Amino acid sequence: MSELLEHVARNRAYWDDLARQYVEAGERAWAQEEPAWGIWHVPEAELQVFSEQLSGKDAIELGCGTAYISAWLSRRGARVVGIDNSEAQLGTARRLQRQYGLDFPLIHGDAEEIAYPDASFDFAISEYGACLWADPHRWVPEAARLLRPGGQLVFLTNSFLMTLCMPPDEGVAATERLLRPAFGMYRIDWPGNPGVEFHLLHGDWIRLLRRSGFEVEDLIEVRPAVGAISRYPFVTLEWARQWPCEEVWKARKTH
Ligand SMILES: C[S@@+](CC[C@H](N)C(=O)[O-])C[C@H]1O[C@@H](n2cnc3c(N)ncnc32)[C@H](O)[C@@H]1O
Repeated sequence: MSELLEHVARNRAYWDDLARQYVEAGERAWAQEEPAWGIWHVPEAELQVFSEQLSGKDAIELGCGTAYISAWLSRRGARVVGIDNSEAQLGTARRLQRQYGLDFPLIHGDAEEIAYPDASFDFAISEYGACLWADPHRWVPEAARLLRPGGQLVFLTNSFLMTLCMPPDEGVAATERLLRPAFGMYRIDWPGNPGVEFHLLHGDWIRLLRRSGFEVEDLIEVRPAVGAISRYPFVTLEWARQWPCEEVWKARKTH
């Protein structure tokens, strides 16, 4: 692989450090038969992230972390590959693979540049993975290259609205005020945090997806259930019941 870009190198070091904090959540998610999505664990029966028939399909998880989504896909009969930028996260994923006797390729690499031939997959998914931490102008065209015509891309990330309302201080929840301009938003370097995130206006996502050969099929604003619990401090349930704090994009590769 070519030399790492600055944001990829920074996110690699950041996620190698954070990996320990994701072990328990990864173990819980691997143990679940039914998928539950995002920070509020919205059940698959409600959100229908896997709207496709996935059995027998070739699937890739972009920024798989501990690879519990890959495990869910594998149990549904998909031939899945997980790629992640952090060897420490993949260490947990490999241990859980052995524990559950599920064997699928786990690749250490950057989802912006994946060593697979064109049109290798029918389904690509990212939950707070490449869709949050990789450069959209690099990972979206790469996902398009890897998908066969008719293939589907699904990703779940922070809502744009919540990103506008996030105080810069770590551990402080989203406010009811718009704290930064929407226009021009792309890369965010939160003060005092070594990680690099990417957040786009909805119109920018749509144009990028369409330019890359996708048709947008859906944009689902996630609403947690009354009483839902999250381990993350960046948004309260009261906030998330009123405004979307997460969004799921579904796009179809058309050409
Ligand atoms: C929050 S985890 C996502 C996994 C899981 N869905 C979760 O929510 O815990 C974010 C993952 O994205 C990975 N990541 C960040 N940048 C990436 C890139 N350019 N390519 C592949 N993976 C990347 C990180 O290493 C990390 O494991």
